[in-house]
Amino acid sequence: MTLEPRQFHTDRCDAEIFDHGAHVWSWALDGSPILWQSSHSYLEAGKPLRGGVPVCWPWFGPGRTGDQVPAHGPARLAGWRFLGTSGGGARTTASYELSSDALPDALPDQQWRLSYDVTVGEKLELALMVTNEGSTPFSYELALHTYLAVGDSRRISIAGLEGASYLDKVTGRREVQAGDVTITAETDRVYDRSPDVVVTDPVLGRSLRISSDGAANTVVWNPWVAKSAAMPDFGADEWTTMVCIEAGNVLGQAVSLSPGARTSLRYHLAVERS
Ligand code: BG6
Repeated sequence: MTLEPRQFHTDRCDAEIFDHGAHVWSWALDGSPILWQSSHSYLEAGKPLRGGVPVCWPWFGPGRTGDQVPAHGPARLAGWRFLGTSGGGARTTASYELSSDALPDALPDQQWRLSYDVTVGEKLELALMVTNEGSTPFSYELALHTYLAVGDSRRISIAGLEGASYLDKVTGRREVQAGDVTITAETDRVYDRSPDVVVTDPVLGRSLRISSDGAANTVVWNPWVAKSAAMPDFGADEWTTMVCIEAGNVLGQAVSLSPGARTSLRYHLAVERS
């Protein structure tokens, strides 16, 4: 069955969100797409969508043990409950929820609730809350895995991470960021910091400003040539038009949540014309 997204419109933006994964699929400001989607993405229940903003929970990639499936956790494959919208005019908020009743195997024997507010307007504002509704603590990884549309990934520069240490998942080594991040090869890095990040895009003549709250890590991902070719849901040349700048709490920065506690992760994306 082909999935159909919900459509949202404000004075300046158009957005689409799938209930599948509470997945923000598109957000266009004044007619310009800001989020990226693969033209080869699956749009089927049970499969991840390639593009937009996947919600990765309760593990990231293969998880801390390196062997968890599905990749990036089952929340992005689940049918979330759409609770409705609020606002109108300049900004609209769509609210979603997912709980342990609907996805009991995600964290066995734990009771939890994810609440997700997606606000579209002049900015894209994402707020994901995790509540421990059970009587024992649990821990999780979380990432808002945003795919950004860029004119040419080889020509962008990503400022804000200078001096941050990171795990290079391509080489397995730890490094420290020198200067701006540029994409010159397969790039898959988990930074131990989540500062404001600005992506300058000379081809599209704009900058994308990302800020987050509640995140310990920034992940920067571009698959480059060989990895793109190996993915069935990724066009061979599409890596030139995207970069992922993700905010989250992963690997050694996973979150521990005591009974009754609630945490939040916020991700804001704004566009500046240059
Ligand atoms: C990134 C990871 O966040 O997501 C990469 O750091 C991974 O290692 C990429 O390849 C895409 O993951 P997936 O499961 O959507 O193909």
